[in-house]
Amino acid sequence: MTTKAKTLLLFGATGDLSRRMLLPSLAALHAEKLVSEDLRIVGTARSEMTDAGFRNFAREALEKFLPAERRGGMADFLNRLHYQQLDVTDPKAFAKLAKKVGDPQGLAIFLSTAPQLFKATIEGLAGAGLAEEGTRISLEKPLGTDLASSAAINDAVAAAFTEDRIFRIDHYLGKETVQNLLALRFANLMFEPLWRSQYIDHVQITVAETVGLESRVDFYDGAGALRDMVQNHMLQLLALVAMEPPGKFDANSVRDEKVKVLRALRPISADEVVTGQYRGGASTGQIVPGYDEELGRDSDTETFVALKAHVDNWRWRGVPFYLRTGKRLTRRVTEIVVQFKAVPHSIFPGARMMPNQLVIGIQPEENISFTLMAKVPGIDQDGMVLRPVPLNIAMPDAFSGKVKRVAYERLLLDLIEGDQTLFVRRDEVEAQWQWIDGIRATWAREGVLPKTYNAGSWGPSAAIALAERDGVSWHE
Ligand code: BG6
Repeated sequence: MTTKAKTLLLFGATGDLSRRMLLPSLAALHAEKLVSEDLRIVGTARSEMTDAGFRNFAREALEKFLPAERRGGMADFLNRLHYQQLDVTDPKAFAKLAKKVGDPQGLAIFLSTAPQLFKATIEGLAGAGLAEEGTRISLEKPLGTDLASSAAINDAVAAAFTEDRIFRIDHYLGKETVQNLLALRFANLMFEPLWRSQYIDHVQITVAETVGLESRVDFYDGAGALRDMVQNHMLQLLALVAMEPPGKFDANSVRDEKVKVLRALRPISADEVVTGQYRGGASTGQIVPGYDEELGRDSDTETFVALKAHVDNWRWRGVPFYLRTGKRLTRRVTEIVVQFKAVPHSIFPGARMMPNQLVIGIQPEENISFTLMAKVPGIDQDGMVLRPVPLNIAMPDAFSGKVKRVAYERLLLDLIEGDQTLFVRRDEVEAQWQWIDGIRATWAREGVLPKTYNAGSWGPSAAIALAERDGVSWHE
């Protein structure tokens, strides 16, 4: 399906995601003339609002969340917007929506609503003729809380839309450097021959945040770091690092390879995971309360996870993948570290050899750094002095003049154009949940509770020990 959408129907149009990300991203695409002039955007939500009211809401959102230099043609953009009030639990109400949408051919739907509403919404859409061939739908996470609930959501969507019309969002796939991982691996010759257990010692993936609970108290407390971050974003990063080269760069070729990795994840034992919950401390120069205090009650929800995963296939035999993520950590950083093995024999006696290391920085800085051993200049009588030096590529410098985009710009454009490559297929989501369910079952069986860590630290000391007992240090 490659026809471009003519109408974008946005559920949850007055919500936080819409305000902060979706409307600003659409306006940025409009300003750069990346969407066709006749694309209409219809917002819908529970609150009563006129078209003019919605345009006002959008204008305020753009003024707040889109840099001024990216707001070209704002008046024309606002004219694309329309609004229809809707209570999705009332099936009869969808007729009005269908009228507002008009011709369903070329309709792209975006559900940015609570997952409990997905089923009713999809049934309402189908009942109103808005799920026919020629329409497509995009879903925001969380797609369930475990494999069974995820399968129930997937079944409900599949009852109305075929898989080639379902676009499951993992916004990490829309990030530039995440896509760059594919370029790095498959558009260069030098890495791929070394990208295997003979030459790689281990891989680290860190997604560290400095924020705490923010405003999503109930959602987060019911989810925890494992389900909020590892199940989706981190496993997608792992799959992109570990997958075999796809035959082509198209949606199914890429996703076929990712799902093989996800299915090859070995169930992990309790001693390969550490969970934590932050208590009060100093974070980014401020005194912040502990998780329980922010929440206003006691809770056993983990705000930190570190684990050691294994991909059981030929390429990755014996190579651990260390993953860690948490809230209120020392600094905000998302990065992938590929640690190569030491040279098999050193001809430089006395020199302290450091194995090569590739660091792919995803945020806040987008950069790629590869450390090489080099001779320190000078004349040394006791033999050559060597030191690791980084080869650094800072993406913003390498491509100066290119705007910094948020992930939703790429993803919304792909939804409008009907390209599923950066969206998650059902079998991937379910393989992810299956592995996560295994971890949660182990926690329940062994009564695992989060260890405390100070806000502003790198998590519980047990997370450091998890790596150190294998002789590995987390990259900092
Ligand atoms: C979301 C999680 O999916 O990703 C949040 O629900 C998290 O808890 C966010 O803060 C992180 O996204 P980003 O793009 O800021 O790294």
